[in-house]
Amino acid sequence: MNPLPFNIVLFQPEIPNNTGAVGRICVGTGSLLHLVRPLGFRIDDKAVRRAGLDYWKDVELRVHDSLKEALATADRVHYFSTKGARLYTDCSFQPGDYLVFGRETAGLPRELLARRREDSYTIPIWGPIRSHNLANAVAIIIYEAFRQVGFPPKTGDLPSAGQMP
Ligand SMILES: C[S@@+](CC[C@H](N)C(=O)[O-])C[C@H]1O[C@@H](n2cnc3c(N)ncnc32)[C@H](O)[C@@H]1O
Repeated sequence: MNPLPFNIVLFQPEIPNNTGAVGRICVGTGSLLHLVRPLGFRIDDKAVRRAGLDYWKDVELRVHDSLKEALATADRVHYFSTKGARLYTDCSFQPGDYLVFGRETAGLPRELLARRREDSYTIPIWGPIRSHNLANAVAIIIYEAFRQVGFPPKTGDLPSAGQMP
């Protein structure tokens, strides 16, 4: 596994199923999961475990009282929002980066996005929805991040797209 995994930060998540699904993504990609309180559920909520399946116990989880605490040792932080100023594919990812996602209802605080405008990114949407599901947004971003830095060796044996039947 990558020695410097990515850090997924969920700011005040509200829906247990989403956090469970993100936990599963984190286990699958060797990423650390940071949750910023208040949470809209208990960490041992059945719904979290159900969505994370039996992988939930394997999640490298840190729970923080504030975003400041969650990012205390972060060098590089990227923020993801429907109101992000830049396209997510223009974000230059490096192992160890912190990737911050907002609440299901309200997203990330407006003043935070205004302050960190240059580090805020959006996934384009052209159909009639306001946003992506939180876990789907995390999946899109983490795989773009790994595409840029290279997938860890386990996938190295896969045929390249051109060799696929
Ligand atoms: C359900 S969305 C929040 C919707 C909220 N009304 C907003 O506009 O930010 C939950 C989180 O998923 C991520 N997300 C969802 N759609 C996104 C998009 N198109 N671009 C970037 N991030 C997105 C963001 O981190 C967002 O805060």
